[in-house]
Amino acid sequence: MRTGDQNMFAFYLPTRIVHGPNSVRETGKAFRSIGAEKALVVTDKGVKSAGLAEGVLESLKESGIPYVVFDDVEENPGGVTVGKGAEVALKEKCNGIVVVGGGSPLCAGRGMGVVITNGGRIQDYAGLNKAPKPPLPLIAIPTTAGSGAEVSQFIILKDEERHIKMVVGSPMFFPRVAILDPMLLRKLPFWQSVISGIDALSHAIEAYLTILATPITDALALSAVDLIYHNLRPAATSDDLDAKEACLIGSTMANMACGNARLGLPHAMTTPMEGMFKIPHGMAVGTILPYVMEFNLPASYQRFALLAKRMEASDCNRSVEELAPQAITAIKRLFIDLRFPRKYSDEQIDRKAIPQMAKMVMGGLHGEYYDPHREYPMNAVIPSVNLRKATMKDLIELYERSFEGWEI
Ligand SMILES: [Fe+2]
Repeated sequence: MRTGDQNMFAFYLPTRIVHGPNSVRETGKAFRSIGAEKALVVTDKGVKSAGLAEGVLESLKESGIPYVVFDDVEENPGGVTVGKGAEVALKEKCNGIVVVGGGSPLCAGRGMGVVITNGGRIQDYAGLNKAPKPPLPLIAIPTTAGSGAEVSQFIILKDEERHIKMVVGSPMFFPRVAILDPMLLRKLPFWQSVISGIDALSHAIEAYLTILATPITDALALSAVDLIYHNLRPAATSDDLDAKEACLIGSTMANMACGNARLGLPHAMTTPMEGMFKIPHGMAVGTILPYVMEFNLPASYQRFALLAKRMEASDCNRSVEELAPQAITAIKRLFIDLRFPRKYSDEQIDRKAIPQMAKMVMGGLHGEYYDPHREYPMNAVIPSVNLRKATMKDLIELYERSFEGWEI
């Protein structure tokens, strides 16, 4: 991230990453290494009934670590679930957390860690650097290749009272260890693989197109695009373990990039949408991605040309101006192959909410400046690190267009 001075950069990632097939066998040893003795294992019912937590529990048993399982995490969880899990951990005197699951259990479990040591409710810490104490040490074991929450300092949860997605962030919130085991992705249904993979791809593309991008984040973002773009089709449609592993590592690398370079308009524009309507995160973000890429194209033909080369441009001798739009075409081709939606449907998202959503984007990613009574002029510039500055008018046009559909 850029620090104070415009020419100074820092890159921070304290999470130890262990990866490879059957790496969940390392859970017990990793738990000992973080200095904890009793584990709260956080997961959801789907993950548990698919047997995906078994290897983790087995490893804890083998290492003689007592544990309590909390599997009551729903899709898109909020403060209530975090509170329940924290209560269980406090009652059972757990002093470390192991999360096995997708983005929902990962964020819920990480939120529990914050509440257990700091007290109160997770809403009390919404925003950046609000929690005074470090959370319980935590091991993150993703079962989807998407959220990147295993290497993130940001915890994304639903604020049930304000009907918004809240971001709770601090450099103290990075998981201590991330275990990336592609064997856990083997039973992931096609659609789950697709929406989590597109979310991860969007993390990488957005991180590459912010004003905070650095050579370090660029290297991670471009390699993540490469890995995910070329492996998502086989990973989602077959048992190809190498492809699944590539997507899993790509997803982690994408978040290492966006954790430092931050995210652009797709995530900013869909955060209010997800708080107001029932739409899976990856679907919300992915659907608007091609429209935002079209908007961003004039800001850097050079960057789009490099993206195109990493995806599918075979004739690299062409000019930057010719190559650049092919990055958008490549994304559209991937969407067609994966039967990913070309637009939002009116049944899913109420189009009348567009002005309200735009206003919420103006209120900042963490809702820190949001005032429902405030009106913004159409030329007001939104607070975002997106490479191309966008106004209120641009946002409304992008939302409108994303209901119309694109052509290739
Ligand atoms: Fe995301």
